[in-house]
Amino acid sequence: MPDVLFYADEPDPGPWVEALQRALPEGRIHQWAPHHAPLCTYAVCWKPPAAFFAGQTALKAILNIGAGADAVISDPNLPVTVPVVRLDDAGMAPQMEEYVAWCALNYLRRFDDYARAQRAAHWERLAPRSRAAFSVGVMGLGVLGTRVAAFMRLLGFPVRGWSRSPKAIDGVVCFTGDDALAAFLAGTDMLVCLLPLTPATRGILNARNLASLPRGAAVVNIARGGHLVEADLIALLDAGHLCGATLDVFAPEPLAADSPLWRHPKITVTPHISAMTLADESMQQIADKIRRLERGLPVAGIIDRARGY
Ligand SMILES: NC(=O)c1ccc[n+]([C@@H]2O[C@H](COP(=O)([O-])OP(=O)(O)OC[C@H]3O[C@@H](n4cnc5c(N)ncnc54)[C@H](OP(=O)(O)O)[C@@H]3O)[C@@H](O)[C@H]2O)c1
Repeated sequence: MPDVLFYADEPDPGPWVEALQRALPEGRIHQWAPHHAPLCTYAVCWKPPAAFFAGQTALKAILNIGAGADAVISDPNLPVTVPVVRLDDAGMAPQMEEYVAWCALNYLRRFDDYARAQRAAHWERLAPRSRAAFSVGVMGLGVLGTRVAAFMRLLGFPVRGWSRSPKAIDGVVCFTGDDALAAFLAGTDMLVCLLPLTPATRGILNARNLASLPRGAAVVNIARGGHLVEADLIALLDAGHLCGATLDVFAPEPLAADSPLWRHPKITVTPHISAMTLADESMQQIADKIRRLERGLPVAGIIDRARGY
């Protein structure tokens, strides 16, 4: 019977524990507390506190309640040899598709320009943009990026993608590696960041890369706040090189009330909701992975710590 140590940085973790217990009835779930941390064989966690892993010498795997494992793998107390397993989709991909479709239609049809015009009681019909000439560029063609790219194709946008290793996705022009980044950016009218946060990708949405986008391009960051150099984005928006940005993730979160991002007329802010982790779907996936691990079977989504994702 697996003993599972559970911690989720949530206002009320109760429903998450109940969902895991329902999905893993044969397991004993222990909700971590400073004086309640029995020796366990699995850890299921999201942004655990510093003491979470203390004394946990029997762990067989750490299951991260999220697709991005940057928070847990940068934890200095993380046991060195225990595999860390991430969520694969678990209901997040359809939400990402919806969010990016909303952004693409917003910038294509210039609805954000019309929203600003309405606030100024200004009546003006702007030149339409053609969908066939509005290219969506997805940075990161992993579990989520691939789904977003395919969905944008379904909606009739030209789509290009960029990743570390070569990809072949029907109807998507794929670029690989640092040498191809400038060419990828040069043909992208709406840039979507779906990269993991690693030493190689931190600050990648910077002045040099954003200036490589064509004039009038839009930026959508739905990965991690650490990808974006905020001052560089604001400078390029103010200079008119970029037409707008939609930001769902920030460093740190929650976004400070005095951040200029809240009030910038060309920036749309959402509170890290582009793909919310769903309790039932994610706990079911984690339970299935624990069962496979117990039977000695391979599981998807093991983090390569050297690569950082
Ligand atoms: N805002 C939200 O609500 C939310 C929700 C879920 C996830 N996220 C974020 O979304 C990220 C992506 O999730 P995912 O499940 O799609 O991750 P994933 O499956 O690990 O895919 C990551 C993709 O990024 C590429 N990549 C990584 N480092 C690169 C580099 N240095 N240069 C070029 N490409 C690089 C990978 O290339 P290869 O294919 O060649 O390995 C892969 O295609 C997560 O890490 C998380 O930060 C945000």
